[in-house]
Order: sequence, then C-alpha cells, then structure tokens
Amino acid sequence: MGTGGARVVFDRWEGRYSSAMSAVRSSAVRDLFAAADRPDVISLSGGMPDVRRVPREAVQRAVRDAMRHDGAAALQYGSSEGSVALRGTVADLMAESGARLDEDDIVLTAGAQQALDLLARVFLDPGDVIITEGPTYVGALQAFSAYRPRVECIPLDEHGMRTEVLEETLRRLGPRGAKFIYTIPNFQNPAGVTLSASRRRRLLELAHEFDIPVIEDDPYGRLRYEGGHILPLRALDPDVIYLGTFSKVFAPGLRVGWLAAPRPIRSKVLLAKQAADLCGSSFAHAVIERYMTGTSWRRVLVDLQSAYRERRDAMFAALAEHFPGDVAWTRPEGGFFVWVTLPAHMDTKPLLAEAVEHGVTFVPGSDFFPDGRGSNCLRIAFCYESPEKIAEGITRLAEVLEDKLGLYRSFVAAGVMPASAGSGGGLA
Ligand SMILES: Cc1ncc(COP(=O)(O)O)c(C=O)c1O
Repeated sequence: MGTGGARVVFDRWEGRYSSAMSAVRSSAVRDLFAAADRPDVISLSGGMPDVRRVPREAVQRAVRDAMRHDGAAALQYGSSEGSVALRGTVADLMAESGARLDEDDIVLTAGAQQALDLLARVFLDPGDVIITEGPTYVGALQAFSAYRPRVECIPLDEHGMRTEVLEETLRRLGPRGAKFIYTIPNFQNPAGVTLSASRRRRLLELAHEFDIPVIEDDPYGRLRYEGGHILPLRALDPDVIYLGTFSKVFAPGLRVGWLAAPRPIRSKVLLAKQAADLCGSSFAHAVIERYMTGTSWRRVLVDLQSAYRERRDAMFAALAEHFPGDVAWTRPEGGFFVWVTLPAHMDTKPLLAEAVEHGVTFVPGSDFFPDGRGSNCLRIAFCYESPEKIAEGITRLAEVLEDKLGLYRSFVAAGVMPASAGSGGGLA
C-alpha cells in the first residue's frame, strides 16, 4: 500500500510463492518511508532514533580503533553467537539494569528484529497459539506471521498488559496452551505504556504456572524521561528470553541487537542463526564494542534522553491544546510513542492519505493488531522531529481529525450512530 495510491504490478511469479509469505502483511510504517521523506511532510510515524545527535567524530574514532586493534577479526567471519568482547559489554549493560547473566547466555543478532524472526523459526508451527499485547509491535507481527500462528491479543491499560485477562486467556487455553508470551514491558510500541512492577511479577507467576516461555522485548528501556527504573522481567526470572538492541542508544544502521536466553533455547537459536546468516557483522560488533568502551556514549544517551523528553512534552502540550475532547491519548514516561484513541466508529486508515496531503504522517492503529482491530486508533511518534515541528504536526493532524469528528458528531446528534469512545483498540 502506498500513500499516493498503490500501483498494481503484474507478477508472473504469482502462484509460486510459499503460503507462509502470503501471511506476511506489509506495514504502513515501512510504506510511509517514501512520503515521510518529502521535506514539507512532518513525520509523526516512524520510530527513527535521532542519529543526528550521535557525534560523527565518536563513530569515526570507534571505526579507527576497531581497525587498529581488531582489524583482521573485524573483516573476517565470526562465531555465530558474535564477538565475545561485545557480548561481555552486553552482559555488563544488563547487569546495570538489574539482570545478571554472562556472555555465554547471549547471541548477538542483526537487530532485535532478527531475534524475533529466529525465535519464530525456533518455536512456531502453523496453527500454534502465541500471546502478545494488543496492540503490539508491527515488526513482531510480521516476523511471527510467516509461521502462521493464531495470535491471542491481551489488552493494555495504563499499567501495561492486563494480567487478569492474560490469566483468563491462559486458563481457557490450558497448560502449555500457547507457545510463548511476547511482551514489550517498557514504553510499549505502539501504546507507550509501561508494565507495572506488580504486573511483571504476576505475568511471571502465570508463565510458570502454565509453563510458557516469556519473550521480553526491551528496545526502549534506557530511554526513560521520568519515574523510577522498573526491573526487567529477566532480572526477576532467568528463564525469560530477553531482547535488547543498540538501535536506540547508538544507531540502527549498524543492525546489532542481542538475545539472552536459557542455554537450550540459545542452542536452537544459534542453529537458526547459522542457517540465516552464518554469523553477524564482525565489523559492526568491533565498532560498537569500541564505541561502548569509555564513557562518551553515556553523554550521548543523556543528550538523547533530554531531547526526546523535550519533544514528548511538546507533543503533550500540543495534544492538550489542539486535540478534540472526545479523543484520548497515553502519557508515556519514556520511549518514542503516544497511542491515540478516537471514538469507536472512526477509521484512521483512510485518514492517512488526507493527513499526508496536510503534511503530516501517523500510523493507523489497525497495523498493530493481527486482525483489523484498532481501526479507531493511531500511533504518533515524538522521536524524530523538532519540538516546533511536532507542535505544527499535531496542529495539522488535529485539523484532519476535527473535520471527520465533526461529521461523526452530527451523525450521533441525529441518532444515526451511537456515541462511543475508547473501544476496539483503545486502552481500557
Ligand atoms: C518493540 C520493538 N522491537 C524490536 C524492534 C527492532 O529493533 P532493531 O532495530 O534492533 O531491529 C523495534 C524497532 O523499532 C521495536 O520497537
């Protein structure tokens, strides 16, 4: 789907592709990259970190040091688990957030995205049930959907996944009734909400009771702008499969993330990784290892945090000033995203083309569900544009929404439509 209307291309290989691929949907976020590139369009869609704030000299120094000290190894194939030095650094980073593990628990991957794909290969057969949050990360849905699972979505509220609904679902499915539970506990993509400490404990109790592995995807954990640190699930339970990434604290262009898993799962993931790419990029591992040695990356992170905080606050202020009263939104303490819920009968997908006409992009909510739910919602990101552009983008979006909401309100007033807000993909 393109924003300017999809061009239908005749495909003479149609009918030869695997049925697995037919289950993988394109994402509006990816499709929007072209539109978001137009200089007049304000992008509130993509989750792109602001790499303009990563000093070029620091990267050049890291590349030079990598070549000087690890040159031969950096240009050679490496082990499938990835550089031992960088895995050691990852173990140190995880210890800082409260999770104790060692480098042999870790596999370096091509971003957290590859870890999602490898886990899907390792765990899923067609028809298997998996449990995710609803809404959830569109890239996870894409990675999982090739393996044709049935996805049970657990709704969220401001404290993250509703564990009482998780419990009901697990009881309905029975012991080992799902292959895994996938959660993004910190500043969830797309909803922005954070799983509370008490719900983290409850989720783990339930996972134990029903003997179901938990995948904790944590790309945004270090991007907290207010409130106290909450221990990751992996810190509370060594059986949790943890996914991390350098994409948000350094640069997604390097494509390096990691997976920490109990040894038997890690062995299966390594086999899947060998089949996928033999090994990761030794060069990228060496550069990141050099960048993360020393303290300058911590200064960059503090700078990123304060820039993102300022942008988030600009978004909050503009939402409060310009968005209509029958629209609700989340108030994330970190990460990149705000989730907006319109009255239940609204559909945000057709609004996207109009928004692009008005010079602003967002992601329609239904992208974040496997089954078309969430159509009355949308995701906006505050990570990329300046505070001024964010304020202008929200003003433009409010104009588009106000137009449609005016029509909706007149239908409600005429009794043609019931008044309702916050159902479907909205948060409880
Ligand atoms: C929740 C979540 N998981 C995984 C990823 C993939 O990150 P990476 O760049 O490490 O592949 C993203 C990227 O936005 C994300 O939001």
